[in-house]
Amino acid sequence: MQVTKFALITGCGRGGIGHALASRLREENIEVIATLLPHEDDEHLVSKGVHVTRTDVTKDESVEQLKKTIQNLTGGRLDILVNNAGICYTMPATDTKVAEVEKMFKVNVFGPMRIVHYMHPFLIEAKGVVVNIGSIGGVCPYVYGASYNASKAALHHYGNTLRVEMRPFGVRVVNIISGEVHTNILKNDHGRSLPDDSVYYPMNDAFQAHLYRKPDGITPDQYAAGVVKEILKKSPVPWFWFGASSGMIRCIDAFLPRTFWDWFFGRLFNLGKLAELQSGGVKLT
Ligand SMILES: NC(=O)c1ccc[n+]([C@@H]2O[C@H](COP(=O)([O-])OP(=O)(O)OC[C@H]3O[C@@H](n4cnc5c(N)ncnc54)[C@H](OP(=O)(O)O)[C@@H]3O)[C@@H](O)[C@H]2O)c1
Repeated sequence: MQVTKFALITGCGRGGIGHALASRLREENIEVIATLLPHEDDEHLVSKGVHVTRTDVTKDESVEQLKKTIQNLTGGRLDILVNNAGICYTMPATDTKVAEVEKMFKVNVFGPMRIVHYMHPFLIEAKGVVVNIGSIGGVCPYVYGASYNASKAALHHYGNTLRVEMRPFGVRVVNIISGEVHTNILKNDHGRSLPDDSVYYPMNDAFQAHLYRKPDGITPDQYAAGVVKEILKKSPVPWFWFGASSGMIRCIDAFLPRTFWDWFFGRLFNLGKLAELQSGGVKLT
């Protein structure tokens, strides 16, 4: 008799990676429990037969409630946990507001830690797999993303250690080192602006264009197809590099000097303009 498999995915708003992963796992006949924030509509999930809960990963009481829901729905087992909920904060490192970073770390880093803390007995029961949705930003110094990149690097290394610690219990842990995916994640950045006295102010037009770009790369469905194929394997790789440019970034990170990125991103973001203004005697603040 086929045993029913259960997956929990956080942050499954319409059009995002969580939504696509939930749909793809349903196609594999896996029972999916998807979390949404209270304000988000759920029709895109309910119509696919996905169970929906309202969970804020930054709040203990909300995740405690989620644990009860999972216990009731699954009898206390989880085959797949996807830590997907995440937000971004785009700003030059020198203009970064710590309060915004704290808000982001609460979702991107402390959220997965909290979910694993509450759900680990269910994962051990099923000898399941934890999937952390990381980012190439956690590996390479993508400009204007210092604090977001730091949150993903923290998630990667948390996952690295979790993998070692969960191994005795038969629970696998996979970091997805994701390239860009076409979603609306940058909505959190709309309306941000550089302070007038920013040393980056000469880049203001380019910075604004960067905030309002649509992430390049693959569609959420393409992403979900690749990720689900990997995580359903008996022994998935611990770091799965997937999505636009991820293979290239993996090679550069492994084989070229760190300072390659200074040249690469300096050119990509036209940072030479700042050096020219500086050497031409123009005071940047
Ligand atoms: N898109 C990319 O290019 C890309 C690349 C690498 C990694 N990632 C990662 O992929 C994950 C999914 O992002 P996405 O691109 O699919 O963006 P998204 O569509 O904005 O999905 C993120 C989801 O997390 C939810 N969320 C935010 N705060 C939460 C909280 N406190 N508790 C629970 N859920 C919360 C969001 O709700 P709201 O919409 O209401 O905020 C949204 O449903 C993120 O971890 C992101 O960092 C994305």
